[in-house]
Amino acid sequence: MLEYSPGLAGVPAARSKISSLDGTKGILEYRGIRIETLAEKSHFIETAYLLLFGKLPTAPELTRFDQDLRNHRRIKYRIVDLIKCLPENGHPMDALQAAVAALGMFYPDKDVLDPKIQYISAVRLIAKLPTIVAAYTRLRRGDDHIQPRDDLGTTENFLYMLSGKVPDKVVSEILDICLILHAEHTMNASTFSGLVTASTLADPYTVISSAVGTLEGPLHGGANERVLTMLEEIGSVEKVRPYIEAKIKAKERIMGMGHRVYKVKDPRATILQGLSKRLFKHVGTSPLYEIAVEMEKIVEEHLSDKKVYPNVDFYSGILYQAMGIEPDSFTPIFAMARVSGWLAHAIEQVQDNHIFRPKEIYEGNRAQDYVPISNR
Ligand code: COA
Repeated sequence: MLEYSPGLAGVPAARSKISSLDGTKGILEYRGIRIETLAEKSHFIETAYLLLFGKLPTAPELTRFDQDLRNHRRIKYRIVDLIKCLPENGHPMDALQAAVAALGMFYPDKDVLDPKIQYISAVRLIAKLPTIVAAYTRLRRGDDHIQPRDDLGTTENFLYMLSGKVPDKVVSEILDICLILHAEHTMNASTFSGLVTASTLADPYTVISSAVGTLEGPLHGGANERVLTMLEEIGSVEKVRPYIEAKIKAKERIMGMGHRVYKVKDPRATILQGLSKRLFKHVGTSPLYEIAVEMEKIVEEHLSDKKVYPNVDFYSGILYQAMGIEPDSFTPIFAMARVSGWLAHAIEQVQDNHIFRPKEIYEGNRAQDYVPISNR
């Protein structure tokens, strides 16, 4: 009998050609290309193409993909109305999940094995997620939804839809790199959740809404928002040591630290830290950065034996906040990027599909009598 592995740790759930990571060396590759190289040379849309189609696009392929994305950014007014009806103090991830699930009712792309359906639904989802995120951010404050602008790139357009202003080039370039870094990460919880849904041959909108729901949790994508709250709560460099030591004593998790696979600092955290320095030179520094650096040092002192180091969520929140983005939008931004990885896995899954049906180890009672309600 196979041994039970809590959290399926170490249990292969799929064969994949999309990304690979070496947790002891801190190496992450998308389709065989190092994340550092993509962060330096690529841009999010090209990386999304790479993930979806397994190769870097030629110039005409990229132009077509980019144009298709620009053409599908708008969301139907009924989706805008749906978003308007959601509580303004709800979490944007819940709004995103609801709107993505609703998209599937407008685009009944049910033949998930048809490459044309796979292409157009991937385009719609990658193009529309930023519009939904920006729409909820504005509508919940009582501001009007801003229509996307076709002349702007994906990331520039997202920032434009948030504020109504064409963003600073450096800021949008840095955010675009953040999207590359968040686009894919092998068999994580949300990808697995999307795969399970895809294995039932559910439509891509249902697949992505499952994955969005899973990403929301504090042990997954929701950690980035909580890192910022934690840094703000600590408030100063001197208070870091007592805070961390108290957390460790109470056996509580430190947000943005630790990873199931990485046993060294997450390479994306290293890139994000470098990007924060670049951003601060441009927009002014954040007091939270010094607190984060001190925290990294003290966590290393105490938890390096358990191989707990900063993960992708540790520096991303500081960066997004310095860009003027609200903390509860951090995880939706993660989803805007990760949708490309989720879709790549869903397409891979249905090409050689087996519905997921793992075993469980039954530990409950057997051969019980039915006790009538009057005797219980
Ligand atoms: N803070 C403090 N201790 C931590 C820790 C953290 N963030 N992450 C792991 N540890 C410790 C555990 O307490 C455990 O110690 P023990 O062996 O004495 O019990 C040990 O390291 C191994 O942890 P484990 O729970 O087995 O690791 P995991 O692979 O199941 O968990 C995470 C991985 C990501 C869920 C976990 O590191 C975590 O909760 N991190 C904080 C949330 C976060 O940032 N999530 C985003 C991930 S990208």
